[in-house]
Amino acid sequence: MSGVGGFGQLVSRQASHPEGVLGRAIGRIWVRETAGVNDAALAVLDPKPGETILEIGHGPGRTLGRILEAGADAIGLEVSEAMSAQAERRNRQAAVDGRLRLHLGDGTNLDLADDSVEAVVAVHTIYFWPNPRGTLAECSRVIQPGGRLVVASRDGSLPLPRRLDPTVYTVPTLDQLETWITDAGFAITGVQALDAVLIVAASAP
Ligand SMILES: C[S@@+](CC[C@H](N)C(=O)[O-])C[C@H]1O[C@@H](n2cnc3c(N)ncnc32)[C@H](O)[C@@H]1O
Repeated sequence: MSGVGGFGQLVSRQASHPEGVLGRAIGRIWVRETAGVNDAALAVLDPKPGETILEIGHGPGRTLGRILEAGADAIGLEVSEAMSAQAERRNRQAAVDGRLRLHLGDGTNLDLADDSVEAVVAVHTIYFWPNPRGTLAECSRVIQPGGRLVVASRDGSLPLPRRLDPTVYTVPTLDQLETWITDAGFAITGVQALDAVLIVAASAP
């Protein structure tokens, strides 16, 4: 028993894969609720004009929009069709212009060529990946040598808020996260803590 009530379980499952009316509503809530962490991750990511940046688990697409505003092209990967559609609506012109490409998948394999992006960012999503080490290895494959990885994740050494279901959220400690990232070939370049969230930056081999 996780001790999380039925509503907590429902919301946690939706967070891992938003769908239907509730999923779409939660996506709209995230636009504000996760803005602070996303903006902090974006400040570390520092997207530049002409770059191509992959965001994994982009949710409603606000951060994709900020990457596009910075002049970079963006690729979004989502497991949720509802979030892919929401992100497309939020960034319609860039999608029409071909500056935004949206893919569906769970990150086990990235449908991208080797060394094809300058950076990857992933905020509040690594908890749900079926194989985080495998996805980080895929990130290492698709990021150009010296490119950037930014992962924002709750700190697994702190208690999970009671509203979140630990059978749905697998939250790594900083040690685990750094081990996964360095085992994938990256060099850690910085770690920031923002309340209960870690923002880990790394450089690709
Ligand atoms: C808590 S939301 C965070 C959304 C957004 N990054 C933010 O910070 O507001 C987690 C997102 O990760 C997506 N997700 C979960 N597992 C995924 C996976 N294996 N690959 C890609 N996206 C995934 C979910 O569909 C959901 O949109």
